[in-house]
Amino acid sequence: MSFRILGTGRALPEYVMTNDEMSTIVDTSDEWIRTRTGIAQRRVCTTESIGDLAVQAAENALQNAGIAAQDLDLIVCATIRGEYFSPSEACVVQKRIGACCPAFDVNAACTGFLYGLDVADGFFARKRVKKVLVVAAENVTNCLDWTDRATCVLFGDGAGAAVLGEGNDLLAIRMESHGNIEALNIPRGENTSPFYQLGSQRPVLHMNGREVYKFAVNAMSSGLIQVIADAGLQQSDIDYVLPHQANQRIIDAACAKLDIPKERCVTNIARYGNISAACIPVLLDEMNRDGRLKPGNLLAMSAFGGGLTAGHCVLRWSKEG
Ligand code: ACO
Repeated sequence: MSFRILGTGRALPEYVMTNDEMSTIVDTSDEWIRTRTGIAQRRVCTTESIGDLAVQAAENALQNAGIAAQDLDLIVCATIRGEYFSPSEACVVQKRIGACCPAFDVNAACTGFLYGLDVADGFFARKRVKKVLVVAAENVTNCLDWTDRATCVLFGDGAGAAVLGEGNDLLAIRMESHGNIEALNIPRGENTSPFYQLGSQRPVLHMNGREVYKFAVNAMSSGLIQVIADAGLQQSDIDYVLPHQANQRIIDAACAKLDIPKERCVTNIARYGNISAACIPVLLDEMNRDGRLKPGNLLAMSAFGGGLTAGHCVLRWSKEG
């Protein structure tokens, strides 16, 4: 027993920030950002909180699944930074949607949604749950150094969600961690204790872009090859690859190492940039709602991110349109 996806949802902030607007803030250009990353614009929170996005994505997924919030047995929220250290963002969502079940966050950076699916799978396997909400919500623009052109151009905000029910559609899943603090980190920030004697760093994203790039291409291609084999499938069986949307060049380089036609690797990075854990569920929701997904389709998902972490899975899509 694993699970099947009953419904999906997404929520993006209203504000669209183009590359041209970005170039009024840091020394960059639309041409540089498009050719190096594939990003044309991103959504940025202005009046929305991360909770607003998570709740809207969750409610859209529940509606798409035809499930009431009261029917949920578990809420897992993937986020790098919720509104509060405590409560968890999952508890914020639980209160606001009116659910009455256990709720907690997972932090695996951009891999968080796939970690969330694996955690949920464990609850299904132990027969502890019948309905689970996995929601990924990110306000990355609140963690950026807006004077650092090498990082601030890459990210955006948003949330995506999936409601899971009992089923057998998760065919294989893998999680990886390769502890590495230097490659990508966001420090906690100031320590308020009068006794604390260590220094503190600004709570903004620091990244060695080239190191993450190399890790990403290898993790994505080798992870997909392994997880497709774990599922007992050939790469040619896969209808769609949903890769983490960090950089179009990473996606192209990773997919070039697979025996899967490029057209089957789906992207929306041009419109949203990297929304961390929310990338894959937002993409999944777009494909669900625009009719691309058909019952029986085989989907391979692959993500990487801070940690360094990576995660990969193969799912059968069985939801009727
Ligand atoms: N505009 C113009 N020039 C820029 C910009 C910019 N926004 N950013 C960097 N440059 C310059 C650099 O200063 C450098 O100039 P120099 O040659 O004079 O020193 C030049 O462009 C090349 O810089 P590189 O870092 O070599 O650029 P690269 O082609 O490697 O692209 C990038 C950088 C886009 C960051 C790439 O390395 C990348 O995508 N890395 C992976 C990042 C990633 O996936 N992060 C998300 C991880 S997920 C998570 O958990 C948050």
